[in-house]
Amino acid sequence: MRTINIGLIGAGYIGHSMALAYRAVGALFPDLPPVRLAMLADANEATAAKAAQRYGFAASTGDWRRLVTDKGVDVVAIATPNHLHCEMAVAALEAGKHVHCEKPLALDMDEARKMADAARRAGTRTIVGYNYLHNPMIRLAREIVARGEIGRLVHFRGFHEEDYMSDPALPFSWRCEREFAGAGALADLGSHIVSFADALAGPIAELSADIATVVPERPVAGGGRRKVENEDQGQFIARFASGATGAISASRVATGRKMGLAFELVGTEGAIAFDQERLNELRVYRAKEAAGARGFATILAGPEHPGYAAFCPAPGHQIGFTDLKTLEVAHFLSAICNGRAAEPDFATALRYEAVIDAALRSAESRRWVRVGG
Ligand SMILES: NC(=O)c1ccc[n+]([C@@H]2O[C@H](COP(=O)([O-])OP(=O)(O)OC[C@H]3O[C@@H](n4cnc5c(N)ncnc54)[C@H](O)[C@@H]3O)[C@@H](O)[C@H]2O)c1
Repeated sequence: MRTINIGLIGAGYIGHSMALAYRAVGALFPDLPPVRLAMLADANEATAAKAAQRYGFAASTGDWRRLVTDKGVDVVAIATPNHLHCEMAVAALEAGKHVHCEKPLALDMDEARKMADAARRAGTRTIVGYNYLHNPMIRLAREIVARGEIGRLVHFRGFHEEDYMSDPALPFSWRCEREFAGAGALADLGSHIVSFADALAGPIAELSADIATVVPERPVAGGGRRKVENEDQGQFIARFASGATGAISASRVATGRKMGLAFELVGTEGAIAFDQERLNELRVYRAKEAAGARGFATILAGPEHPGYAAFCPAPGHQIGFTDLKTLEVAHFLSAICNGRAAEPDFATALRYEAVIDAALRSAESRRWVRVGG
């Protein structure tokens, strides 16, 4: 099997997780092609060199353009702030690389379309970093739905709420600025719950949204204060193309919530509930159980659920956040070597972007709007 050479751009919060995932994947999934950590790029030479040494990349650079055009790189993994995704991904695709890009796909619909078009033209594989979709428990939920075990879907209720920006003393960062982040909580966190909604209940057709900026100004490192340019929280009610209804919210100021990515999916014959703070559990209710014995049953992740056994042969011992990233990487490498689309690729992530875009348009106009309209 031909070795797949990895180039990683950005070694911050999620770059760390990506580096660990690409480093571990070969040992965990020996049937996949071997991986070589070829090059790491960061904003300057020194940071890149330090990170490359830490994670075991063969080379480093302070110039990401060198990485995307390097003949010794097959996959470009992008773990930089949102405003850089489009330029970096398009350059990598035009150089014939496979691209693993962090979420959200882009700053806005124009950029997201440009990226999806570039991916179509390149014909290489793409994936967007919606790591939570690769949880074996979410795959199980999708199978239960696909087998019709909870009947016809009638409602999806979900949220992604955290409190990482609750403290008004937290300094202004790129996440507060439209030019660098695009939308706020809806893009950063809402896109994850939208990815769950889309994967479990199908595309969202129309919605009515409201947004709010709870902390209007933040202190700037070095003195003074700056206006926060995007929303701290957003919520919408929705209609799926299937006719099911939905209620979705996202917040980065949800006091007490650390990783509140949760949903309940209601069908005519059952329901499924999940909470990322207990990511090894799926709760399933089946209406056909005998009266008096009905209730949500908790299924614990174990080796019967594809992906889990790579980490541990025993059920209930639990996998974690970086393990989900490693499952995402394994899925991507498998898509590359089998020549099939990874999930979610740029085309699918464009649908999530269209939902966030519709939510912003709806909040602005204070009306129901069609997604993609
Ligand atoms: N999938 C997830 O669960 C998840 C979690 C966190 C962040 N993210 C996404 O990952 C992306 C990065 O977020 P983060 O929290 O890791 O940010 P971060 O600020 O912690 O890290 C960003 C990194 O990019 C580097 N960088 C900035 N400009 C660069 C340039 N021009 N060339 C090369 N490197 C450059 C920075 O030096 C830094 O190392 C964002 O799009 C974010 O939405 C995804």
